[in-house]
Amino acid sequence: MKVLIVGSGGREHAIASSVAKSPKVEKIYCAPGNAGIAQLAECVDIGVMDFDRLVAFAREKEIDFTIVAPDDPLVAGAVDAFEAAGLTAFGPRKNAAILEGSKAFSKDLMKKYNIPTAAYENFESAEEALKYLETADMPIVLKADGLALGKGVLICNTLEEAKEGVKSIMLDKQFGNAGNKLVIEEFMTGREVSVLSFVDGKTIKPMTSAQDHKRAQDGDQGLNTGGMGTFSPSPFYTPEVDAFCKEHIYQATVDAMAAEGREFKGIIFFGLMLTEKGPKVLEYNARFGDPEAQVVLPRMKNDIMEVMQACIDGTLDQVDLQFEDNAAVCVVLASDGYPVKYEKGKKITGLSAFEDQKDYFCFHAGTKQSGEDIVTNGGRVLGITATGKDLVEARKKAYEATEWVSFENKYMRHDIGKAIDEMD
Ligand code: AMP
Ligand code: GLY
Repeated sequence: MKVLIVGSGGREHAIASSVAKSPKVEKIYCAPGNAGIAQLAECVDIGVMDFDRLVAFAREKEIDFTIVAPDDPLVAGAVDAFEAAGLTAFGPRKNAAILEGSKAFSKDLMKKYNIPTAAYENFESAEEALKYLETADMPIVLKADGLALGKGVLICNTLEEAKEGVKSIMLDKQFGNAGNKLVIEEFMTGREVSVLSFVDGKTIKPMTSAQDHKRAQDGDQGLNTGGMGTFSPSPFYTPEVDAFCKEHIYQATVDAMAAEGREFKGIIFFGLMLTEKGPKVLEYNARFGDPEAQVVLPRMKNDIMEVMQACIDGTLDQVDLQFEDNAAVCVVLASDGYPVKYEKGKKITGLSAFEDQKDYFCFHAGTKQSGEDIVTNGGRVLGITATGKDLVEARKKAYEATEWVSFENKYMRHDIGKAIDEMD
C-alpha cells in the first residue's frame, strides 16, 4: 500500500511513524513534510492547500490512501477533492470538518443536542456584541468563529478588556475573516483534558487521554501557543469522567452530526474541561492534536492503517482499540521568542542519539535539511517524547532526552507534566 500524508509538523511525524510500522505499507510520501519525516517518507514540495497538485500527485504515484492531518485543508474540503478524483482519503469531508471550522456551528450543535458546554451567544455584529457585554458577568470568553491558528480565544477579566477584544476581532479583524462572527461564552474553571477519537460516521472509539500545555512559559504564563508539551494519560481523566463523557458527549456528538446530514469520518478531538458541574466541551477539533498525537500514537497497539481503513469502511465497531499500559510525555523544543518572533536556520546537533531507541522519540516539527545539516525552520522545532511505566518515569526520561540535542536559541518549558506531582 502506498500512503500519502498531508502536513509538515510533529503531529505528521508521529502519524508517519505509526504508518511506517504497518506491515500493509510499502511506501510513504509526505507533502510537504520536514527533515525528520524525510527519514521515513519521500517528501514532496506541495503545500497543504494546493489540492489540485496534491490530487494530481496522488494519481501519478498511484497512492492508495491519503491522510489529511491539518485543520486548514480539512475545513477547506481536501478530502472532498481527493474523493471527487476517485481517491481514498482519511479525514472529515468539508461539511463535517465545520465541527472545527466554525465555533458558532459547534456551539449551536451542542445546544441543539444537549451536549454539555459553556453557556454562550453568537454575534454577527460588533454593535450587538458590545451591547451584550454591558450586562454580562466577568471574566468572559471571546472566540473568533473561524480558524485562527489556535489563537482566536480571548479570556477577558474586565468589561474594558472584553470591549477591546470585540473590536480587535470583529472590527480590526485581528484574525481576518475568522472574526466575521463571534462567540461570547461563559468563563469556566477546571482541569483541561484532551480526548482524541476515531469515528466512522456511526461508531466512535476514544483513544487514551492526554493533556496539553498551551502557554509559552512555565507556570502557564505567557502567550498561547500551538502547544509546548503534552502527557498521556491524564490522571484526571478518571473512570467516572470517562463514563460521563461516553454517555453525554462522544456518541451524542457523532449522532448529532449524522442527524444534521454531516456524517463525520476521521478524528474528533474533544477539548474538555472538568468543571465542578461535570465535564464540558471547550472545543472540538476535526483532526489529531499537535502535540497530543506525539504522546497518544506511540502508546497505540493497533495497526493505524487498519483503524483508519475501518473508519472509511464504516466497520470501526469491529476494531478493538488498545493502548499500552504505560505513559508518555512530550516536551517541545522551540525557538526562543516563539510564538511571536524567532530566528530560524540554526544547526541542530545530537539527533543521532535517538536512532535505535525504543522508548525515546524525536518528532520533528519545524526542521529542514540544509546541505549536510538539519536546521531549525519554525517556532516549534522538535517534540522530544519518552514513554515509561508511569508518568513520573516518562517525564524524567523525556527531560533527560531534551539534553541530547542542541541548537542556538533552544527554548522549552520545564514543567510539562508537573500536574502529575499534585496527584501525590
Ligand atoms: P479553545 O481553542 O476553544 O480550546 O480555547 C483555547 C483555550 O482557552 C482553552 O484550552 C482554555 O484554556 C481556554 N478556554 C476556552 N474556552 C473557555 C471557557 N469557556 N472558560 C475558560 N477557559 C476557556
Ligand atoms: N494542541 C492543540 C491542538 O492541536 O489544537
